Amino acid sequence: MTRDLFARHRAVLPDWLALYYEDPLEITHGEGRHVWDAAGNKYLDFFGGILTTMTAHALPEVTKAVAEQAGRIIHSSTLYLNRPMVELAERVAHLSGIPDARVFFTTSGTEANDTALLLATAYRRSNAILAMRNSYHGRSFGAVGITGNRGWSPTSLSPLQTLYVHGGVRSRGPYAHLDDREFVDACVADLKDLLGHTRAPAALIAEPVQGVGGFTSPPDGLYAAFREVLHERGVLWISDEVQTGWGRTGEHFWGWQAHGRNGPPDIVTFAKGIGNGMSIGGVVARAEIMNCLDANSISTFGGTQVTMAAGLANLSYLLEHDLQGNARRVGGLLIERLRAVAAQVPHVREVRGRGLMIGVELTRPGTDEAAPDAASAVLEEARAGGLLVGKGGGHDTSVLRVAPPMSLTVAEAEEGAAILERALRSI
Ligand SMILES: Cc1ncc(COP(=O)(O)O)c(C=O)c1O
Repeated sequence: MTRDLFARHRAVLPDWLALYYEDPLEITHGEGRHVWDAAGNKYLDFFGGILTTMTAHALPEVTKAVAEQAGRIIHSSTLYLNRPMVELAERVAHLSGIPDARVFFTTSGTEANDTALLLATAYRRSNAILAMRNSYHGRSFGAVGITGNRGWSPTSLSPLQTLYVHGGVRSRGPYAHLDDREFVDACVADLKDLLGHTRAPAALIAEPVQGVGGFTSPPDGLYAAFREVLHERGVLWISDEVQTGWGRTGEHFWGWQAHGRNGPPDIVTFAKGIGNGMSIGGVVARAEIMNCLDANSISTFGGTQVTMAAGLANLSYLLEHDLQGNARRVGGLLIERLRAVAAQVPHVREVRGRGLMIGVELTRPGTDEAAPDAASAVLEEARAGGLLVGKGGGHDTSVLRVAPPMSLTVAEAEEGAAILERALRSI
């Protein structure tokens, strides 16, 4: 049955819509941190539909909120007052730490980043954007133009002039051999040099921890150091928190807080986890930036009552159950456990990340050469053992991505680590 569906998928959907596994999986239902496939096999889910099932599968609080809201009204458009949208905007504005914040809801991270680019370029009257090498910001024409990961960048045509900055990847590239302080200094010097050669950019956009790029990040403080340089020149800082937001990184509610010694970014974008699978994206910015557009703009599906009801219930659950604290504690145990395993598996180059955002980079033993075949083999073995993980990385995808729902228990973390250990040892 699943094979037949695979053939139909291939016949009717684009070739570039990649599927995991030789024998792709049809997930039919989930509960907590588990999902089941069409054949009835049960899996521990350590990828959460790409960090999107943030709290848990089939969380009763979210399901109830969606069902009740759907029974009243699903959508009325932004032409009318929408109570759940105002309520979620109030909560997000407060949590953002941005003074006098305004929130605009979209339906995806891509659209959130496109909106941030529109705001920054209009506010600054410049179409030049600074982005990080190895970044991913979405699939639209605008977002692809600021994506520094060749594997996800199908065209170089763009309405923007994008300049790629060093620093998103700590352990590779020309500055990898430097210590943290020197690394930050070198990246800042590179940024200053770049700014000396270019038209004044509108903004820098960066993921605090690069998601698709393989859970890589700079030393803490890099973006604060960048910010000082940018601030002097009026250049805005956009933090793409699509993967790192809502406490996923454990130590911080927003990924930027690892860097933010001199305050929040000018613009924050979010998506994925906040809706727990319902399509919510959004932008938060200071009012003077958000209100700089001199024409109307709407997102027809952005902020529909049913998605906002899901977001409110999901966010309440996250905060009331301190899932950020859980991500810090359980993620801390998981990363230590995976590091201990990695020390005995020659293919593992690095185990990195924070909270429940952990990357295991595989290379050919003794080299820095990516090992995408090994990553695919581990993915298959983990699945056979009952565990779903993700993949990411630069052009050669060879980083395993571990990002379970943030309600993960210690027992589940241990169970998943044991399965992953067997899969890694089988390479
Ligand atoms: C950091 C980041 N920004 C933006 C996006 C785009 O979000 P969406 O797929 O919801 O359009 C993604 C998606 O993976 C992402 O990881």
